[in-house]
Amino acid sequence: MKTLFGELADGTKVSSWSLENGGTRLKVLDYGGIVQSLEIPDRHGRYANVSLGFDTVEDYVAGSPYFGALIGRYGNRLAKGRFTLDGESHQLPVNDGENSLHGGTDGFDRRVWDVEPFTDGRDAGLRLRLTSADGEMGYPGTLAVRVTYTLTGDGDWRIDYEATTDKPTVVNLTSHVYWNLAGEGSGSVHDHELQIAASRYLPVDAGLIPTGESADVTGTPFDFREAKAVGRDLRVAHEQLLYCKGVDHNYVLDKGRTDRPEHVATLRDPASGRTLRITTTEPGLQFYSGNFLDGTLVGSGGRVYRQGDALCLETQHFPDSPNQPSFPSTVLRPGQTYRTTTVHTFGR
Ligand code: BGC
Repeated sequence: MKTLFGELADGTKVSSWSLENGGTRLKVLDYGGIVQSLEIPDRHGRYANVSLGFDTVEDYVAGSPYFGALIGRYGNRLAKGRFTLDGESHQLPVNDGENSLHGGTDGFDRRVWDVEPFTDGRDAGLRLRLTSADGEMGYPGTLAVRVTYTLTGDGDWRIDYEATTDKPTVVNLTSHVYWNLAGEGSGSVHDHELQIAASRYLPVDAGLIPTGESADVTGTPFDFREAKAVGRDLRVAHEQLLYCKGVDHNYVLDKGRTDRPEHVATLRDPASGRTLRITTTEPGLQFYSGNFLDGTLVGSGGRVYRQGDALCLETQHFPDSPNQPSFPSTVLRPGQTYRTTTVHTFGR
């Protein structure tokens, strides 16, 4: 079902699409492909919205830290907003100190997507389409992007990303949902239990750009191979935690890049019983512990969001790959199709 959500300053209408299937309820905006709300039941069948967001377009435009948004063309940071491809150098607008973050000042999170609903057997979903012009935000090539949000008959939320280009370019698409399985606005997620199937992560410099090394998680606060409380080690005096005010790092997933989605992370709220299980084809996962939420934003439920009130688990290729020869390539060439899939399975 489609309803009017609001209007942008230039008069463009923003619509909200509501879907329900297999016990999961999803509200998506055509602005930014934003998941404005995602409701799932607890062990007693009580629903809560487990995704941080706003209830007006104005709030999203004024200063959303990418709540629920589709991220492109490039998820996470590119050092100094620069990269060289086939000998040609490209300068992007910088929006995070001297770096480019999440596609730049006007990334896919701020574009209005074409949205079409579909049903297919037991599945129901939305097809979102966007064309990004050659040179938009400094990136070469016209990029045709298609993202499919599917709610399966079992209530899983699946995201399929596809893109093609007419010139060599770089692409790294992801989804920026801020999870709080106790319900948005209910407080900290530090008691949630998190498990990540990764033995290595990418240390960063003070500007949060990967140094190019990967580090063993053994014996560090970054070890989530066995499920542990999110907040357990966040106060350990580790230089990498100080740089980011918590965890804000790409995990090098043990499984690597795969043709089919494989399990990489499980998040569980012991109090409500709600669980989220993530499978993906991608080789990386950005675990961001909501460090920069600072008590200045009022969320969709009318409550203030503070540090640690949510966390993000962004499936992706590694940050800054175009400048890091040892990382898996994010180059897309004409004739190739970029294809990745991430599935969110909910339990209680
Ligand atoms: C980044 C953080 C950033 C957050 C919100 C995450 O993906 O890794 O550094 O603060 O997005 O913009």
